[in-house]
Amino acid sequence: MTQVIRNSAELREKVAGWKRSGMLVGVVPTMGALHEGHMSLVAQARAQSDRVIVTIFVNPMQFNNPDDLTKYPRNEAKDVALLDQAGVDVLFAPGVEEVYPTGFATTVSITGVSEPMEGAHRPGHFDGVATVVSKLFGMTQAGRAFFGEKDWQQLQVVRRLVDDLNIPVKIIGCPTIREEDGLAMSSRNVRLTAQERQIAPQMHHILQQAATQLRGGALASDALTSARAAFLAAGFHDVEYLELASVEGLRLLPAANEPARLLVAAWLGDVRLIDNIAV
Ligand code: PAF
Repeated sequence: MTQVIRNSAELREKVAGWKRSGMLVGVVPTMGALHEGHMSLVAQARAQSDRVIVTIFVNPMQFNNPDDLTKYPRNEAKDVALLDQAGVDVLFAPGVEEVYPTGFATTVSITGVSEPMEGAHRPGHFDGVATVVSKLFGMTQAGRAFFGEKDWQQLQVVRRLVDDLNIPVKIIGCPTIREEDGLAMSSRNVRLTAQERQIAPQMHHILQQAATQLRGGALASDALTSARAAFLAAGFHDVEYLELASVEGLRLLPAANEPARLLVAAWLGDVRLIDNIAV
């Protein structure tokens, strides 16, 4: 049975017991509304740790848009059933007061990798992510933490965070899990209308086409201009960013002349989708 813990003192005691027995603790930080993408992280955590904690906390500090926070899907009962089935030891699901008690006054802010793309379009987002992830590492005391490559920039921000602050946790990045038609799994997909759901997989296909052009030596300016037009033609109504960035340090690149990643955020109706692929 997955034990649900809401209080960090209780969690600390539980984890201390595991660690006294020499166990390696893995954590999968999430905001709930779990899908197969999350469950693949859980499977990795189970394979690489002796005990697994999943955290569910819809972190208000990382939502720059209050509407997005209100609409974020929540279904704890369903999540607990999935975690139970997957053999997760503990679900840590603290309330907002447990994470941000009265008087809380710290922000963890990372420059560089957090600045372009998501950072430029969602002011304060990565401060919120870095702050809560630091707290979750402190609360869970896990030795390994599993993050999806779907949030590629977030993964780089978290790697920077643990290196810079000497946080004793190994970050494991796990591949994006896709629906059969190519759409990257995301908790936000449930908010797509039937028509938007038909369009959404184009995001992956357009990225693949652009990546092929870039691998063939096309300039980013050319490949990205065609890809932007393809997004709009497919029915996305706004492409917030579409960039070619270096794997090392997420610098924007004029061409794929080093290991690179193609990253996009675009809107379908009132749903903001993100995705990325290797070039
Ligand atoms: O990727 C997410 O679900 C969130 O950004 C995270 C890492 C759980 C922090 O709130």
